[in-house]
Amino acid sequence: MTDPVAAGSDPLGQWRRLADASVLLDGFHALKHAVRFGAEVPVAVTADRRATLALAGELAPDVRDALDALLTEVAEATYTSLVPRPHPTAVAALAVRPSREANLERLGHAPRSTPVVVLDNPRNLGNAGAVIRLAAGFGATGVVTTGTLDPWHPTVVRGGAGLHFATAVERLTVDELPAGPVFALDPEGDDLRGVKLPDDALLAFGSERSGLSAELRARADHLLALPMRPQVSSYNLATSVAMTLYHWSATGGASVPPRERPRGRTARPLED
Ligand SMILES: C[S@@+](CC[C@H](N)C(=O)[O-])C[C@H]1O[C@@H](n2cnc3c(N)ncnc32)[C@H](O)[C@@H]1O
Repeated sequence: MTDPVAAGSDPLGQWRRLADASVLLDGFHALKHAVRFGAEVPVAVTADRRATLALAGELAPDVRDALDALLTEVAEATYTSLVPRPHPTAVAALAVRPSREANLERLGHAPRSTPVVVLDNPRNLGNAGAVIRLAAGFGATGVVTTGTLDPWHPTVVRGGAGLHFATAVERLTVDELPAGPVFALDPEGDDLRGVKLPDDALLAFGSERSGLSAELRARADHLLALPMRPQVSSYNLATSVAMTLYHWSATGGASVPPRERPRGRTARPLED
């Protein structure tokens, strides 16, 4: 195979120019989601263009043509030099991060038709990624983090499978949270099952280490508990968000259409 870097089209040079200010899309599924949800992707590479487009034809026909136009094939060694940890699909891309102004506009838009998830000082990058994926799946307006964790850290983007582009992801202080009733999840709260969560709710979850901060508790309108046996101290952060978003959707929250399965295909996992 001819390496286009050597051939003069220079995706590697473009990559090096843009990498510091861009979002790394690591793997086929992250690129697929980012393109599907409108991300601007200035450079995308694959170590095997034919295999990547075949995967797109099978799993993501809606974006196959867009990927065909975007992807440049590079040598395997070039691909591995661009990413911290090679992905099994040998695909990587850089995307433009949505502006903070645009995200703040989405988060603060009134009336809000779906909740905002607030992670109060989360510590685990994998949890943050899993929560962004959940928020995208349920059509939540956005995910706001407080504290020092960067919700656009490459490990969070990898955990979120590129779905940062399907919801508004920002870091704010508790004082800067968008308007709306705050329902904070805490094992000492009232039983969630007796409550209908409004579509404009801020659903707040505490840190893995220490739970909800004093600032977040002071801003909360309601403290709610997930059902849990007394001997168990708490659930994992991301599973708590999953149960709460499911409760919102199952009790009449804005409807997310069930995903259609292509005819004639048996169910099988499509991705990690
Ligand atoms: C791992 S837990 C935090 C445990 C922490 N050691 C503490 O003292 O609360 C992370 C967050 O998940 C949510 N959570 C976990 N279990 C919950 C439950 N049974 N009811 C309500 N929220 C829960 C809360 O928002 C909690 O702050």
